[in-house]
Amino acid sequence: MKVLINSLLQPELLSYLNMEMTPYQLSNNTPLTLSPNFILPEDKRPDLSEVLPSDSIPIIDLNDRDIDDGQGPSPLVSKISQACEEYGFFQIINHGVPKELCQKLLAVVTEFFQLPPEERAQYLTKDHSKQVKVFNYYQKYEGIGKVTMWSETFSHPWHSTEDFAHLLPTNPPQYREVFAEYARAIGVLFDRLLSLISQGLGLDKDCLKRRIGEKPGLNTQANYYPACPDPELTMGMPDHNDLGSITVLLQVEGVTGLQVIKDGKWLTVDPVPDAFVINLADQTQVLSNGKFKSVEHRAVTNKFLPRLSLGMFYNPNYDTVIGPIEDLIDEEHPSKYRKYSFKEYMEEFYRQQGKRRRVKEAFELQR
Ligand code: OGA
Ligand code: NI
Repeated sequence: MKVLINSLLQPELLSYLNMEMTPYQLSNNTPLTLSPNFILPEDKRPDLSEVLPSDSIPIIDLNDRDIDDGQGPSPLVSKISQACEEYGFFQIINHGVPKELCQKLLAVVTEFFQLPPEERAQYLTKDHSKQVKVFNYYQKYEGIGKVTMWSETFSHPWHSTEDFAHLLPTNPPQYREVFAEYARAIGVLFDRLLSLISQGLGLDKDCLKRRIGEKPGLNTQANYYPACPDPELTMGMPDHNDLGSITVLLQVEGVTGLQVIKDGKWLTVDPVPDAFVINLADQTQVLSNGKFKSVEHRAVTNKFLPRLSLGMFYNPNYDTVIGPIEDLIDEEHPSKYRKYSFKEYMEEFYRQQGKRRRVKEAFELQR
């Protein structure tokens, strides 16, 4: 016992414990502690004992047979189309993006979140049209007010043109370079995925990409979830649907947090080594006239380890008109959504800020 106490009092250990006990400091200078503004009302808590394991979320090998032999969809296309219909979520392996690159990226992004808060604070803004920003998710609850999520998010464009690179951090020093390389690789992957999903709908390979349109809005969101002393009381990211076409999400290995809805129950999406999580977003649901699903998901916190995820988004630009693709509409499948510009869609999104968002529903045709 004495030995144990002695060893506990060693200065290095004390400083380590102290480091572990010091709450993460958000960029707005708030410490992340279990104070009331981070604690969810009882009926909004994640109820982790009810969450199911992720066994069933499809893991698709992009090296699977993908030959168009004129006999209908290839085995790969069939798998993708089934996953898009049933889950709206799947993981991909053998996707062509080098493992080392993903690791380098997660390392620089982690370093970013570990910068002193005053350095990250230069990216804080209330203006949602700002392209490069740090923010904290929150939800408003009646009678309680604003509850801040247990996370911090850094978002910026990812297309590899010159016009935004100068806005990205110079600290960590490798941030720009690693990001540019990652963005190039993910650009190639998006093209492949959009083509596979188009084929999964029985459409030409380039159909979805064409409909999402010229000059897509490409942005990324890095989410940092510090360890939380009691994950039952907090949420890292509230339930939401992604807004664009599809999302390519990279998550650190060994720390769970992402969950999706399937048949009314939450399922965890555990990290699979060297995989990306792919989820369909709202515009793909609308373009497919509801055949493929944009599914609700959320991120819960972890008691022992911080978690990092990075989503790459591919959105239409504001002027693009979105609506169900005509080839998918017939008497049996009447159009479920009205046409709208993506600008209208985003305006509706911001109108629902802080609330439980139901953006798609606002564009459904009544019948
Ligand atoms: C997102 C998202 C989930 C996660 O950024 O849209 O859903 O696992 N992230 O962090
Ligand atoms: Ni999401």
